[in-house]
Amino acid sequence: MRRKLIAGNWKMNGSLVANQELIGAVAAGLPVAHCAVALCVPSPYLAQAQALLAGSGIDLGAQDLSCHESGAFTGEISAAMLREFGVRYAIVGHSERRQFHRESDAEVAQKAQRALAAGITPIVCIGETLAEREAGQTEAVVKRQLAAVIHTNGHCISEIVLAYEPVWAIGTGKTASPQQAQQVHAVLRSQLAAASEHADRIGILYGGSMNAVNAANLLGQPDIDGGLIGGASLKAADFLAIISAAA
Ligand code: 13P
Repeated sequence: MRRKLIAGNWKMNGSLVANQELIGAVAAGLPVAHCAVALCVPSPYLAQAQALLAGSGIDLGAQDLSCHESGAFTGEISAAMLREFGVRYAIVGHSERRQFHRESDAEVAQKAQRALAAGITPIVCIGETLAEREAGQTEAVVKRQLAAVIHTNGHCISEIVLAYEPVWAIGTGKTASPQQAQQVHAVLRSQLAAASEHADRIGILYGGSMNAVNAANLLGQPDIDGGLIGGASLKAADFLAIISAAA
């Protein structure tokens, strides 16, 4: 049985003062029996978050990492550096990076490989745009994005976490219906099953305007193993309500 994971993606939000308050409130409000929980914070706050999360039962995550190991790559952050701050998860291939930083399927697959080699679980994001959905290309797009990760990572694919994030649902308040999301998750599950005999242990998260109200229905679907939460992870009460819905 897969343990559910609720991961907050703070994106480019936060400050030393705000982080202390938010992490304090989330840690204090965590239900006794909770699912796996992670916070993916901006890189400058890793040390602060590592200290605040110590002993809380909440894991630390990053939002990206370099596809290179080390060297002359100004501005990049390596998997080994993240590891030094106790990072357990790293988001790779978020649609905002694919869109604004032109990350290709191959680069995302390499990032996943770098993370795995450093002992970090990559949360690999895939998802179609509105235009692709309307053109009936949803399945083809997500399968292509996942195929690149499978191709590069081989049998290690069973060590990743996958996140289906339809681009049109991110930050828009438009959520995929539980049925729409489950349909895609089932497609991804069978693609993973064809690639790995351990596919049943791979968590597939849903992301895109998940909130305190819609979380329970989404998380009730058989192939939805958790959530990658943007906006609602910045409010302790909302994030805690999603964690409770996953229990
Ligand atoms: P929202 O929850 O704000 O739609 O963001 C989802 C997301 O992109 C998480 O990675």
